[in-house]
Amino acid sequence: MQHVCIIGGGFMGAALAKYFLDAHIKVSLYEGFIARRQELMADEAFQKVQFLETIEECKEVDFIIEAITENLQAKQQLFKSIEDHFPPSTTFCTNTSSYLISSIAENVKHKERVIGTHFFSPAHITPLVEVVPSAFTEEHHIEKTMSFLQSVNKKPVLLKKEIQGFVANRLQSALSREAMSLVQNGIVSPEELDFIAKWSLGIRLANTGPLEQRDINGLDTHMAIVNYVYPTLENSSEPLFIHEQLIENNRFGMKTNEGFYDWSTIDKKQYLAQKDDVLLNVIRAVSAQDEEVEK
Ligand SMILES: NC(=O)c1ccc[n+]([C@@H]2O[C@H](COP(=O)([O-])OP(=O)(O)OC[C@H]3O[C@@H](n4cnc5c(N)ncnc54)[C@H](O)[C@@H]3O)[C@@H](O)[C@H]2O)c1
Repeated sequence: MQHVCIIGGGFMGAALAKYFLDAHIKVSLYEGFIARRQELMADEAFQKVQFLETIEECKEVDFIIEAITENLQAKQQLFKSIEDHFPPSTTFCTNTSSYLISSIAENVKHKERVIGTHFFSPAHITPLVEVVPSAFTEEHHIEKTMSFLQSVNKKPVLLKKEIQGFVANRLQSALSREAMSLVQNGIVSPEELDFIAKWSLGIRLANTGPLEQRDINGLDTHMAIVNYVYPTLENSSEPLFIHEQLIENNRFGMKTNEGFYDWSTIDKKQYLAQKDDVLLNVIRAVSAQDEEVEK
């Protein structure tokens, strides 16, 4: 049986633990914040997880999967502090959403074992994983990671080289910057923005990727559009004012009950469970369609 050790049991780490348990993988988990660790330990869904009091307790592990807070120094420090406890054959995966893998591995002696495995939220459902090697990552660790992810029914895609934010988060950042800009400039409300995105790009993206869609629509027509629209697109290299204001007012989204929306009266567990069900239906429909096309 393969054994993974997840470090950080927050939003992503907990969902990954759930996913790997369902795939019959042995899961150890180290969560640094004791109250959070106790919350997970009390949860029925995590009964089979081996909870660690120190990372060093973990033995004979195939993969370390780091899912701690998105902070470069913290991730660098974590890998440096644990590397002597695990043989070079143990692959060190990071679930960073944005940092270069070579930066995270900067202080690690065996840089060849560090690789990005960028899972997507909700991680117990979303199939895709971006696998991101640095220039130092050894082929053996790349192949081992790819075949492990395939064996647990994820859809890993290997990037040819690293870039900040990888692929999906670069696309998402471009979209969310423009979305915030449109709201900031009073073109639409957050609700209207989400409605437009969901019922146009959203449903279509589950079916055709952005480049295939451009081919379908016509690249000549698209050329006319980009010549007119590109100069007007949001291109700020700083966070937008509307985003900074939300952060300053402690409006971090669902986790603080307020973001673009008011979440204070919503049963979040139930709400997310309903969203999971919708996503599962979409995945079933897209998978069935893909199988049909492959025939
Ligand atoms: N939230 C998302 O949608 C999403 C999607 C893909 C990737 N990611 C990435 O996954 C990682 C985790 O994100 P998250 O949303 O789960 O964050 P989170 O804040 O929900 O969870 C992080 C957890 O790590 C714990 N932690 C922090 N430092 C630690 C340490 N040194 N040792 C052990 N535990 C520690 C915290 O107590 C917390 O429980 C980040 O790198 C993030 O960018 C997040």
